[in-house]
Amino acid sequence: MRVPVAIIGAGPAGMLLSHLLAADGVESVIIEARSEAYVLARIRAGILEQSSVQLLRSVGLGRRLEQEGMEHRGIYLQIPGERHHLDFVDLVGRSVWVYGQTEVQKDLVGARTAGGQRIFYEAGDVALHDVTTECPHVTFAAADGTPQRIDADVVVGCDGSFGPSRSAIPDGVKQVWQYTYPYSWLGVLADVAPSTDELIYAWHPDGFALHSMRSPDVSRFYLQVPDDTDVNEWSHRQIWDALARRLGEGIDDWSLQTGPITECSVLPMRSYVQSPMRYGRLFLAGDAAHIVPPTGAKGLNLAIADVALLAPALTALLKHHSGPADAYSDAALHRVWRCTHFSWWMTRMLHQSGDPFDAQLQLSQLRWVFTSDAAATGLAENYAGLPLEGPDRTIFRAPGTADTSTGKGQTYSPSA
Ligand code: APR
Ligand code: PHB
Repeated sequence: MRVPVAIIGAGPAGMLLSHLLAADGVESVIIEARSEAYVLARIRAGILEQSSVQLLRSVGLGRRLEQEGMEHRGIYLQIPGERHHLDFVDLVGRSVWVYGQTEVQKDLVGARTAGGQRIFYEAGDVALHDVTTECPHVTFAAADGTPQRIDADVVVGCDGSFGPSRSAIPDGVKQVWQYTYPYSWLGVLADVAPSTDELIYAWHPDGFALHSMRSPDVSRFYLQVPDDTDVNEWSHRQIWDALARRLGEGIDDWSLQTGPITECSVLPMRSYVQSPMRYGRLFLAGDAAHIVPPTGAKGLNLAIADVALLAPALTALLKHHSGPADAYSDAALHRVWRCTHFSWWMTRMLHQSGDPFDAQLQLSQLRWVFTSDAAATGLAENYAGLPLEGPDRTIFRAPGTADTSTGKGQTYSPSA
């Protein structure tokens, strides 16, 4: 089989890339190791930056997001006895949306199925070949075991942190930076109405806690736990007690509503950046090139920002044999490092490290954010997200969308 673009991985990066390419008339095939049902059921983060929402809307993926997503003006940040609201709209003129990655994935699968996208699910032994030539190819075993080969002009690795694409860039060429945090999150999904109108990020001597949500009837919570925690060590009663304590039950009569827990898992936390994100005819996007700890919910937004850059760059490369493909890696890494720093900063500010000196510095930093507009604006600017940029550093705007967020910058149109 021959196709202009072979995409490895059907997560949000791979699916959105195929959607943007199709809108520009560029055909692609997606090769995914898991089943469609597995990919659709994965529970991940749930916050979209304003520019991610604008992009999804502008390419026809905004209908359910508008009906079911919840627009939030900001977040609550708290220390014991004090809950402070940071209003991103007042601070930086941008909001965020609560809309689960699971829902984004459903919208993408629906749109790509309607668009006739070819996707090989349950592919085995996926391998990349000849990526430094003009004729790269991908081999794999299809779900029924038959060997397959896809010849492409370009291969895009959207296969997350465990896929084969990132290691197709040889050691002498790639540089890797990584950091493993000495704690994990216990993630909890519960059938209970949120006990808050916006997310609560809570610093607490027992460890960090986060109250997030998925819908008016479903809440999402996280608790800082030691790295080697077995999820079965925590009874549902212990989880609710720890959440109530850390989230500040009793502050101004606030109380945490409880309900049936439907999912519980332990998530390790790590930062990882690999450079370059292009090697010959191989391009990396999303978790294949970078991982951030979940504090601040940047992972999905970064994957969206990567493919917003990559799709027009690939279209220009394939149609005109020129354009911004050479600039993709540097332009994407610019944002990747900003988000890597922000996620690290939020994580380090809010989690107990066990060192009492660290704890005092964290409290001082949090009080600075509570009381200084400059500090609060810095957090808001990063959390609500920077506008999407083209590789030439102009503001990205999909065709036909008005930029209501900044009023600045030139149009960077994927079909320009
Ligand atoms: N062959 C084919 N596909 C593979 C392989 C392989 N060998 N290994 C992994 N994959 C698939 C995974 O099954 C998954 O569906 O690649 C896909 C990668 O998707 P994600 O992990 O969702 O990564 P990405 O699309 O970059 O999205 C980033 O996901 O992990 C979160 O926090 C992250 O929210 C962010 C978003
Ligand atoms: C989530 O809802 O899963 C979520 C929200 C905010 C975060 C991390 C995760 O910072």
